[in-house]
Amino acid sequence: MLEAKSIVKRYAGADRPAVNRLDLHVRRGEFLSIVGRSGSGKSTLLHILASLIKPDSGSILFQGLDICSASEDRRNQLRGRDFAVVFQQHYLLPYLSVLENVLLPFLNGFRTVKQPRLAMARDILERMELGRKENSRPGELSGGEQQRVAIARALVRGASILFADEPTGSLDFATGSSIMRLLHELNADGLTIVMVTHNSEFANSSDRVVRMADGEIS
Ligand SMILES: Nc1ncnc2c1ncn2[C@@H]1O[C@H](COP(=O)(O)OP(=O)(O)OP(=O)(O)O)[C@@H](O)[C@H]1O
Ligand SMILES: [Mg+2]
Repeated sequence: MLEAKSIVKRYAGADRPAVNRLDLHVRRGEFLSIVGRSGSGKSTLLHILASLIKPDSGSILFQGLDICSASEDRRNQLRGRDFAVVFQQHYLLPYLSVLENVLLPFLNGFRTVKQPRLAMARDILERMELGRKENSRPGELSGGEQQRVAIARALVRGASILFADEPTGSLDFATGSSIMRLLHELNADGLTIVMVTHNSEFANSSDRVVRMADGEIS
């Protein structure tokens, strides 16, 4: 589904690349975990795969298209529609309701959100067992609920692949486990997932684990 070939990324001033000639093939429908020590390049790799940053060299094929050399319009389209990203911090907007946060990807200037999209947002909130919380503010939710809102927002436009950078990193074990159960459910329904985690139990519950060390898969 997504194939990275010989990806290199070196941050300005760094003596070694953060990601070094790395090859990785993400298969459709798989749940892949990326583990490794702090600083080994996991987030950099994930951000490159999700098209949030460009590598210095190498290519990433998504459905036959090299997304590194694609136009900015096409990359925006991928980020907006096909790719979903969640982080350790949820980045919800505190002054918007849960429903409004999930509708954010649909907002375009001051135009109102059309009914089918509202229905999509409510649907996914229902899925995340947050239907009754749509009018709450993020600050009124627990950490796990906030992360579920962030996942709902990431997926509301119908992405086919979810990139998650330590999605359970700021949660206690039980809450993290409930997020993992949710990710497994979404995966069973066909969502491809690439997750960075420091939790080996969570990693081992996925289909495949790759370990990074010094910017390479070891
Ligand atoms: N924006 C940046 N500018 C400069 N250097 C960076 C930047 N982001 C990351 N790095 C460096 O690149 C290397 C890889 O960082 P990265 O964030 O990918 O690691 P990681 O495996 O995700 O670590 P962690 O487990 O702590 O999140 C590190 O040496 C880091 O200091
Ligand atoms: Mg990281």
